Amino acid sequence: MGKRKVTKDSNSCGAKKNLKQIIYYSFIGYIISMIQHCLSIFQRPFMVYGYYDRSKKKYLRDVRISSTVDIVDKKNFIVGDNVWINHYTRIDASGGVIIGEGCQIGSSVGIFSHSSHNAIRLMGANYMKTPKGERVGYIVKSTEIGEYTFIGSGSYIMPGVKIGKGCVIGTNSVVTKDIPDYSIAVGSPAKVIKSTLDVDREYFENPKVRECYFDSSVIDTYQNIKQ
Ligand SMILES: CC(C)(COP(=O)(O)OP(=O)(O)OC[C@H]1O[C@@H](n2cnc3c(N)ncnc32)[C@H](O)[C@@H]1OP(=O)(O)O)[C@@H](O)C(=O)NCCC(=O)NCCS
Repeated sequence: MGKRKVTKDSNSCGAKKNLKQIIYYSFIGYIISMIQHCLSIFQRPFMVYGYYDRSKKKYLRDVRISSTVDIVDKKNFIVGDNVWINHYTRIDASGGVIIGEGCQIGSSVGIFSHSSHNAIRLMGANYMKTPKGERVGYIVKSTEIGEYTFIGSGSYIMPGVKIGKGCVIGTNSVVTKDIPDYSIAVGSPAKVIKSTLDVDREYFENPKVRECYFDSSVIDTYQNIKQ
């Protein structure tokens, strides 16, 4: 993969840390983050610093998840670092949800990994009495969002959908099918209208972007084509 190896220096892309950042990355910052975790119960909506990933048993310091985000079945929710999830979003991870590093999820987004829209009708009053695995027509599919993808506010992602890396999903879209890497997709159902690479390419001469862009293979390909 053409992913840049993130070191202490490359992570900041050469930028000097200010006092606030120094405190944030210190042990004091960790304590402040923990206090904010507790306070977020009372202060809503509030972007909570950090997230304890139960599946990896790892604390991810640079994740920001709003205190109003509702995650069902956290044990099946896998999230990369540097992810933002905005207010009033609902994530149903019962069938598994993977959100790659650096994704931004807007407010009031719905990400689903199960559906009972046929099963309740087919199973009638026996639906609740039947174990999940034996329910006829019950859909359970893992949903995945690739790294550095942006999901616009008010969008819904259907069970089993795989959205590639570096994509932009427009506000209020309904994503019903897989979306290839670097797509800009909009609407209901979401259709690919262009590529994020057409936007990004204009910045590839910028030294900061060359150093920081999340997928170095894209920059390498661009350079080879130019030569
Ligand atoms: C998807 C998005 C990035 C596209 O922006 P853009 O590249 O400047 O594209 P344009 O505005 O030129 O739109 C291109 C076409 O797609 C349509 N379009 C854009 N966004 C759309 C959307 N969300 N739903 C449906 N159609 C959309 C436009 O009407 C236009 O159609 P046309 O070619 O027939 O005129 C932008 O519309 C968007 O949704 N941004 C997200 C904002 C957001 O959610 N912010 C929350 C921050 S937390």
